[in-house]
Amino acid sequence: MLTISVIKADVGGYVGHSSMHPDLLATAEEKLTQAKQAGTLIDFHVSHCGDDLFLVMTHERGELDEGVHRLAWDTFLAGTEVAKKLKLYGAGQDLLSDAFSGNIRGMGPGSAEMEIEERTSEPILVFMADKTSAGSFNLPLYKMFADPFNTAGLVIAEALHKGFTFEVHDIVNHQKVKFDCPEEIYDALVFLGSPAHYAVKAVYSRNTGEVAAVSSTDKLSLIAGRYVGKDDPTCVVRTQGDFPAVGEVLEPFTFPAIVEGWMRGSHQGPWMPCSIKDANPSRFDGPPRVSCIGFQVANGTLIGPRDMFDDPGFDEARHQANLVADYLRRHGPWEPHRLPLEEMEYTTMPAVASKLSGRWEPLE
Ligand code: F6R
Ligand code: MG
Ligand code: MG
Repeated sequence: MLTISVIKADVGGYVGHSSMHPDLLATAEEKLTQAKQAGTLIDFHVSHCGDDLFLVMTHERGELDEGVHRLAWDTFLAGTEVAKKLKLYGAGQDLLSDAFSGNIRGMGPGSAEMEIEERTSEPILVFMADKTSAGSFNLPLYKMFADPFNTAGLVIAEALHKGFTFEVHDIVNHQKVKFDCPEEIYDALVFLGSPAHYAVKAVYSRNTGEVAAVSSTDKLSLIAGRYVGKDDPTCVVRTQGDFPAVGEVLEPFTFPAIVEGWMRGSHQGPWMPCSIKDANPSRFDGPPRVSCIGFQVANGTLIGPRDMFDDPGFDEARHQANLVADYLRRHGPWEPHRLPLEEMEYTTMPAVASKLSGRWEPLE
């Protein structure tokens, strides 16, 4: 069995929270090269989306493996050292714990892992997002695996026709539930439509039981109990054959959906599908970005990447994202551009409320 592990963290931004310094990528590359030489990993690819560092790793050690998770943690620590030296912005920002204990869950970094029997040909897509939260992948995952207007294969391909099972995590109350789709789409949508609370963790083929997709659902603010940055999630999707085609998996991103996490983690904005070279959110610290790197996996080796949104087919989505960004920005500090009071990551409310506490008068 082959395990694909994507583990990510923001350990320092360049400039501000907009992008990543090349020395950080080089440090991660060096660390993972050593691990490959030592035999911990079969292969790896290091990438970034905005200020987040993504480690794509293949190995045969299973999910939640201590060695692989420690490697990722140590890589983030090494990156933090570089960030401190260069005084990059927010050095070590997502590393919420001082000491590694077993696996990286609950320590700040996000992770998405799947254990698979590699097929004759195994095309996978790794999505990486910045300035948004766990749960943003709910909508595209629903479209990929449950919406026949998106995925033609659900209607006309035997292998997909039985549908898919969605594993949904309640990230506030730490519980999970599975929905068999299409029968249970109405029930599933009650939860999926509230991505700040419920996030799709995994999707399984009902034809074979095989895992089709996994995503990171770690919610930094819930782990830390205070604002420490955005989750900036990842999602890994297997494609073709028993799974949606590459084009069916990418199609949902032609809609620049509105997600949470723009400026100070306190605003809604459209996420823009863009190439890695354009994944440097700068305008009002955004708009949020989603990038996608594609690989053919060959005996664990990552053949690639292909930069999947580097395609004029997504120009219109980018254009629409800019229009929606302009429109929302004109709301300034008003909802719904600004998040509701209880969901903002930054707020002056307690301080202002206490300053004004003596000035409120009861209504007649
Ligand atoms: C970071 C983010 C940014 C920051 C903002 C303020 O993911 O969303 O918009 O929240 O740049 O950052 P600080 O408070 O670090 O100056
Ligand atoms: Mg940052
Ligand atoms: Mg980020």
